[in-house]
Amino acid sequence: MSPTQTLTESGLQRRIKLHLHAKPQLFFAVCAVGFESILEQEIRGLKEAIIVQVVDGGVEFSGPFHLIYEANLVLRTAVRVLLRIQTFVACSYPELFNKSCRIAWERYAGLKPLLGFECSANTSRLHHTDNIIKTVYDAIKEIYGDFGINPNQSDMPDTSFYIRMSRDQCTISLDSSGELLYKRGWREAIGHAPIRESLASAILGYAECRKFSRIVDPFCGSGTFCIEAIHSLIHHAPGLNRKFAFEKWPSFQEARYHYGQKKIASQEMTASAVSVVGSDISKAAIQAAGENGQRAGVSKWVSFTQSDCVESLRKNGGRDMLVVSNLPYGKRSLDSGEIGPLYRTFGQAMKDNMKRGSRFALVVPDESVSDLLKLPVSKLIRFMNGGLPVKLIMGDL
Ligand SMILES: C[S@@+](CC[C@H](N)C(=O)[O-])C[C@H]1O[C@@H](n2cnc3c(N)ncnc32)[C@H](O)[C@@H]1O
Repeated sequence: MSPTQTLTESGLQRRIKLHLHAKPQLFFAVCAVGFESILEQEIRGLKEAIIVQVVDGGVEFSGPFHLIYEANLVLRTAVRVLLRIQTFVACSYPELFNKSCRIAWERYAGLKPLLGFECSANTSRLHHTDNIIKTVYDAIKEIYGDFGINPNQSDMPDTSFYIRMSRDQCTISLDSSGELLYKRGWREAIGHAPIRESLASAILGYAECRKFSRIVDPFCGSGTFCIEAIHSLIHHAPGLNRKFAFEKWPSFQEARYHYGQKKIASQEMTASAVSVVGSDISKAAIQAAGENGQRAGVSKWVSFTQSDCVESLRKNGGRDMLVVSNLPYGKRSLDSGEIGPLYRTFGQAMKDNMKRGSRFALVVPDESVSDLLKLPVSKLIRFMNGGLPVKLIMGDL
C-alpha cells in the first residue's frame, strides 16, 4: 500500500506535545486485590494526581502526562501503571476494528513500532482474546499503512498495549512500567516463599508501620518486610534503580524525567528513628537477607540475626512494637505436622512479649491452623501469595 500521508519525527513530536504532553491524561495503577485503599492513599500523596475511581485491583487517576514518571518511581504498592488510551463499546469485530482505527497509534508507538499485546475479556460478546488482539493489530496496520510504515509484533516489544473487554466495553491502555514494579532491583537472594515487595509494602502501609518505635519480622526469610519498611521510613523511592517501559516511548521527556528523578532522590532522609529487626531460624535465609539489605542500601538501619521466632520475641519484645511477618506455610509444612505447635508457641510468645501499644500483621495460610495463634484479630484480608490462598490477620495487643 502506498502512503497517503507523510509523518516526520518533528511532525510526530508536535502531535505528541499537543495531544499528550499538553493535556491531562488518565492512568490506572494496578495492585493486589484487597489493598486498593493503601494504593489510593499513596496516589493521594502525589501532588498533581486526582483520584477518578478505586476498583478491584487498582486505582484510576488523572493528571499531567509527566505524572506517569513519578507514579512509577514512587508507588510502593502498585505492580504496574498504565496510560489509558481509549474506552469504547465494541459488540462486534467490525465495530472493534473501526473504533480502533480512530486511535492515533503513532503517538504511542512512534515511527518504528515494535508492538506487544496483552488481552483479557469477560462478560462480553467479544471474548476470544487472540481474535481481539488480531482485530486491533489489523487496525494499527491500517493506520500505519497510511504513513507507509509496517508495524511489527514482538515478544520483546518497545510498546505494550493492554486490551480489556468487559461488559462489551473495550479499554485500550499502554503499559508504562515494563518489568513489574515489585522488582526493585535489590532482591537477588531469595529465601523460601518470599513475599512480593509491593505486597510487603502494602501490608506495612495497612499496619501503619510509621506509628511504631520498633518493627520486628521473626520469620524474615530474604528480608523483604524489613527492607521495604526502611525504604518507606526514609522515603526512598522504590523505582530509583531500575528502568521503565516509558523510557522507550516516542513521547518520553528524558530531561524532565531525570530532573524529577533527582528531585525525588533528594527527598530521601539520612536517618530513621525506628529500629528494624529481622530474624530467621535459617542461616541461609539470614545470609540472603543481609546481602539483599546491602544491595538495597539499608544495612546500617537493620539487624538480621539467626534465631528461633520465640527467642527473637523474647529479645526484641517491648512496647509500641509492630510484628510483621509471613509465617511458614505451604502444603509441605502443613503436612509435616510441625506447623501446629509452632503457631501455638509463637502466638503465646507474642502475647507474653509484646506490650502496650503493639500490633501484629501476619500473613498466614487461609486455613484453621491460624486459629492456633489465639490472637485478637480485628482486620482480615484474603489474597493469594505464590499461588496459595493466604490471609493477612491484624490486631492490637
Ligand atoms: C514464608 S518464609 C518468609 C519469607 C519472607 N517473608 C520473604 O519475603 O523472604 C518463612 C520463614 O520462616 C522461617 N522459619 C521456619 N520456622 C522458624 C522458626 N521456628 N523460627 C524462626 N524462623 C522460622 C523459614 O526459615 C522461612 O525463611
